[in-house]
Amino acid sequence: MTGKVRPLAKGIAALALVGPVLYVVLQAVQAQPTTQQTAPYIAPIDVDTTGLPGPLQPVFYRHDIHAGQYEMDCRYCHYAVEVSSSPGLPSLDTCMGCHLIVGGANPEVAKVREAFNEGRPIEWVEVHKLPSFVHFPHMRHVKADIQCQDCHGEVQRMAKVYQFASLKMGWCLECHRSEGVTTDCTACHY
Ligand code: HEC
Ligand code: HEC
Ligand code: HEC
Ligand code: HEC
Ligand code: HEC
Repeated sequence: MTGKVRPLAKGIAALALVGPVLYVVLQAVQAQPTTQQTAPYIAPIDVDTTGLPGPLQPVFYRHDIHAGQYEMDCRYCHYAVEVSSSPGLPSLDTCMGCHLIVGGANPEVAKVREAFNEGRPIEWVEVHKLPSFVHFPHMRHVKADIQCQDCHGEVQRMAKVYQFASLKMGWCLECHRSEGVTTDCTACHY
């Protein structure tokens, strides 16, 4: 078993050996420790992407490693989610805070560093896309204390993120009705 565990998964103590910077960053972004006494989640090392739902991305970025195993808060990367209609994706600066140090031998991390050094963004493929005639204010939902997972599924367990909910009008209305929120046409359609 030990040989199958990611070298960095052996705990914060091991991380400290890798570099104090990473240690500080990981500490800063790690979610508050929960009161549950469950064993820490370890993301699988190799993932066969054939047959996994969701579009193929230019870099195989894995939520199960970052948000799952390392318990990084979603907002560390999708930081606009509470203030904006669209949470947006992180810039490479966010990634390089760690990847200047971590993951050097990984060919996917190499792509991230290469793009960063060339000053070129990574062209992520959109997973979710509502038609342009629909208005969806993300921040209103997040502030109403709806969890990301209620609409996006268990992203922290996904190697490759995919569209979990139908995003159909009926899906929106079903929740709005049960929460006593407006179902007025003009709330969602201008
Ligand atoms: C270390 C940065 C990072 C963290 C932490 C992170 N994400 Fe992401 N997220 C990304 C990147 C990069 C993409 C674009 C690549 C992709 O879609 O896989 C993305 C894509 C997504 C998408 C799909 C976007 C689209 O195109 O529709 C969703 C939904 C999402 N993340 C939700 C979450 C949730 C929920 C969490 C917390 C459980 C989370 N993310 C944590 C970096 C992050
Ligand atoms: C807080 C630190 C941190 C941040 C920020 C971060 N990563 Fe990582 N990333 C890690 C760690 C730790 C690993 C696991 C390294 C290992 O197992 O050797 C990893 C692994 C990876 C891998 C290799 C996955 C695999 O198959 O093993 C890729 C690709 C990657 N990260 C891309 C990104 C991208 C793109 C971003 C920015 C959107 C990002 N990372 C932001 C810490 C971070
Ligand atoms: C009430 C449902 C709901 C909740 C809660 C929710 N989302 Fe979303 N999310 C959506 C929908 C719908 C879209 C598609 C929006 C569009 O295409 O305009 C989306 C799109 C996204 C995207 C794609 C990028 C973008 O800017 O459009 C990301 C990233 C994302 N969500 C992350 C999150 C994170 C992180 C959380 C929790 C903090 C969260 N979402 C909470 C429904 C939700
Ligand atoms: C899981 C429940 C849930 C789902 C799914 C959901 N919503 Fe909501 N929505 C809410 C809640 C709760 C509020 C009220 C937030 C507040 O009080 O500010 C809200 C508020 C809104 C508002 C602001 C309404 C106003 O009073 O101005 C709009 C617009 C909206 N949602 C659009 C959508 C769209 C479009 C979808 C589907 C793509 C959707 N919602 C899916 C729970 C949901
Ligand atoms: C809570 C948000 C919300 C409300 C309220 C809402 N819609 Fe929608 N509507 C959507 C979404 C999301 C879509 C796009 C997804 C789909 O086609 O199901 C949509 C799509 C549509 C479409 C296009 C359907 C198609 O097949 O292309 C029409 C027409 C429409 N809505 C009319 C209405 C009318 C009329 C009302 C008021 C009675 C209304 N909507 C109220 C969210 C909403």
